[in-house]
Amino acid sequence: MGAFSGVAILAKTYAVLVLLLLTVLPSSGRAAGYVDGLAPPGAPASAFPAPARRVAGIVTDTWRDEQSRDQAGEAERVVRLLGVKPGLDVADIGAGSGYYTVRLARRVGPQGHVYAEDVVPDYLDRLARRVSSEGLAGSVTIVRGEPHDPRLPAGSVDLALLVHMYHEVTQPYGLLWNLRPALRPGARVAVIDARKETASHGTPPDLLRCELAAVGYRQTAFYDLQENTYLAVFAPGDRPASPETIRPCSVGHG
Ligand SMILES: C[S@@+](CC[C@H](N)C(=O)[O-])C[C@H]1O[C@@H](n2cnc3c(N)ncnc32)[C@H](O)[C@@H]1O
Repeated sequence: MGAFSGVAILAKTYAVLVLLLLTVLPSSGRAAGYVDGLAPPGAPASAFPAPARRVAGIVTDTWRDEQSRDQAGEAERVVRLLGVKPGLDVADIGAGSGYYTVRLARRVGPQGHVYAEDVVPDYLDRLARRVSSEGLAGSVTIVRGEPHDPRLPAGSVDLALLVHMYHEVTQPYGLLWNLRPALRPGARVAVIDARKETASHGTPPDLLRCELAAVGYRQTAFYDLQENTYLAVFAPGDRPASPETIRPCSVGHG
């Protein structure tokens, strides 16, 4: 082999390696492990009214440290109240650091699935690493949604859980409306939040009921949890409201 053909082979090998790397690495350059939306975008944010109340900023990826939550029996009680069982497909909307994601994944087992969705890429990167290190990658799909659209596949979940995140959603009407196609017949939407004003990282229960009703959901159960928090369960009505008919709820009444 001459010197020229040796250089040509080296150059070819290098080009193939570069191509392979480009295929394997996501185009944004961030770590692999989650997908940017599993479904095509739903209705755009501009189709929905803004909420007529304050929205809290995103400040952390967890509500409380996991040990104190477990000591209070939080996830155990919520899982029991919601009847989460092996084989169920669940969405953890606003999953953050994954307190519920990992507990739900263990509960639903290999026959079930958890879609762990959030809007903050760094939180999702960390969560992807956590899920892998806890051996749960096969049961969990990490999804990057948008503030008005969780981007979940149609007919994919039996239960959507929104924990200590509703007050941070800048587009609650869009999020709830775009979530609906992901819900299977009989699916429920469960919201956990604190009895505080939205600006103080909570949602008054009557305001929550009003905003969900505006999109066509009705409350089917309500439970008090620890530390002035609650779990409210909703079912979608037969027909979703059309976005242009949604009127934002005013603060202080339901
Ligand atoms: C206080 S943390 C709670 C995390 C977790 N659910 C828990 O119980 O510990 C709120 C999470 O909601 C996420 N979040 C805020 N707005 C969101 C939206 N529109 N859609 C999805 N996630 C959102 C934040 O990025 C953050 O991870």
